[in-house]
Amino acid sequence: MSSKLVTVLLLMTSCLLVPPVHSTTGEVEPPDSKKYTFLYFVSMIGGSHYPSLSMSGKELMRQGHRVVSLFSSSSPPQMHTADADIFTTVVYTSSVTPHHRADVMAHLGKLFATGVVTTFWGPLIAGVRGDIPDELSTGDMWLRECDDLLGDAATMKRLREEKFDMLVADDFIPCIPLLAQALNIPFIYNCAGHAVPCEHGMWAGLPIDPSYIPERVLGLTDRMTFLQRVQNVLAHTFYKFWWFMIFDFRRFDQLKVKYNIRPELGTYESNKQASLYMFDGSFALEFPRPMQPNTIYVLFTAGSAPNKTIEADVAEFLDTAPSGVALFSLGTHVGSMEREKAQVLADGLALLPVRVLWQTSAPLPAGVRLAVNTKVVRWLPMSQVMEHPNVKVLVSHGGGFSMYEALWAGLPMVGLPFFGDQMDNLDRLEDRGVGLRLDITTITPDVLNQTIHNVITDPKFRTNARRLSLIMRDLQTMSPPVKTAAHWILHVTKFGGDHLRPAVQDLNYIQRNLIDVYLFILAVLALIVWVNLSLCYYCCRCMCGRAGKNHLKKD
Ligand SMILES: *[C@@H]1O[C@H](CO)[C@@H](O)[C@H](O)[C@H]1NC(C)=O
Ligand SMILES: *[C@@H]1O[C@H](CO)[C@@H](O)[C@H](O)[C@H]1NC(C)=O
Repeated sequence: MSSKLVTVLLLMTSCLLVPPVHSTTGEVEPPDSKKYTFLYFVSMIGGSHYPSLSMSGKELMRQGHRVVSLFSSSSPPQMHTADADIFTTVVYTSSVTPHHRADVMAHLGKLFATGVVTTFWGPLIAGVRGDIPDELSTGDMWLRECDDLLGDAATMKRLREEKFDMLVADDFIPCIPLLAQALNIPFIYNCAGHAVPCEHGMWAGLPIDPSYIPERVLGLTDRMTFLQRVQNVLAHTFYKFWWFMIFDFRRFDQLKVKYNIRPELGTYESNKQASLYMFDGSFALEFPRPMQPNTIYVLFTAGSAPNKTIEADVAEFLDTAPSGVALFSLGTHVGSMEREKAQVLADGLALLPVRVLWQTSAPLPAGVRLAVNTKVVRWLPMSQVMEHPNVKVLVSHGGGFSMYEALWAGLPMVGLPFFGDQMDNLDRLEDRGVGLRLDITTITPDVLNQTIHNVITDPKFRTNARRLSLIMRDLQTMSPPVKTAAHWILHVTKFGGDHLRPAVQDLNYIQRNLIDVYLFILAVLALIVWVNLSLCYYCCRCMCGRAGKNHLKKD
């Protein structure tokens, strides 16, 4: 498989947005007597994968534990400095330059902004067409980063000297188990993608039953017709091979051999050794599905932002909007968009009878004309703005963080997904009657206006959103989610994860799917049938033979 293709596919499930900045809150707790040392490693992906992970680290720090945050020298400087006052940071030397990484990400951003990977076959088509040049392959970049980390003797020595109790990391890159094994410590995975059934069936050990658990990007729900189930089973089987190819475990296996990190245990098998698997999300929205004792859902960010103040000009814009405000935010995609496409969006917003507050951290493409009802801002305290009574709808790319924040505020949504879990997030919102999904590749100003108009004026969307908000809040247990996460991290650090880790993780494909057992039973049944048939045949022959002889005698 070409590395271009690998790149596109890898990024199907990843999020590269600039993270919303949240800090943890809560009252002071009496500290536990034993203090642990944690290694946090998010760097290779960063972006929106960072906030949920760093939040649990901050909570552990608050409880008096030590957290060291590991970065690549190629990651953007603002990542190193974001929490440098909280965590001890260690930067390893990578042969990837920040400039090269920025190029790779910018190229992907441009690709995503065209909407090319929003369909099941989209990534394949983009890969075959060669939309990504070899030198801009993310798969290659991440492999090189892993090689550089394991080969950076000074950093590895420094990390070994820390005698960490646990590695906490993002589940997206197979380098994590290699690092954990090299340091001889257990590890915990945090998953930023909300709906990746096949992948989680493979190495989180979740039972994934395609009769009611829809695979990603198919637009299916948990209630499927016969033909949809056929489609889902085929996709499920397809993805099983797919994920193997995408993650390119063999290339990581070569690193295991190169650095002599338990080469007898493959990277894929090593991936299954996580002590704990954390998912950022809520069953208020996710389709019900079985979990394992070592997999937990934590809604890290929604409702957790402290009381931030809304800037005076924004507050005035909101307060003086009698017919309401649509909150518009597509993350950084707008900056990567063709000017014509951004203009289509701006023209659609111009048709709305409400005001539009457009949040974009990346500057709009030069020359985009905005209508008088639209105000563009670089940054907003999202949850505070969403709680404002005049805000009627969130129009977004369907990224997990803003989506859950909007649900928390009981706000209906319109979504224009680009990649990763965004398509699936929006399918779930549509299924719950909380929003509508649009297609960025075919969008027109009229469709954008009509859809937003529809969601604002039809009260069912608001009613459903409020109900979901109440469910989500009620599903939170007594303690804030980040404390729940910290509690689980500490639990497996103190006691290990073996008592929670299902044995399915040690079964091979044949054992897990009982293929050997079914074949055995089939063989026994076949034997019984064969013995019976043989007996019948023998008896018949005897009786017929005797009857024949008797017959002959009479004659
Ligand atoms: C935010 O403000 C509200 C009302 O003023 C207060 O009840 C709440 O405790 C505050 N939350 C935080 C995290 O400070
Ligand atoms: C926007 O859409 C609504 C609902 O379909 C429609 O009534 C309205 O006329 C549209 N606005 C413009 C300016 O086309």
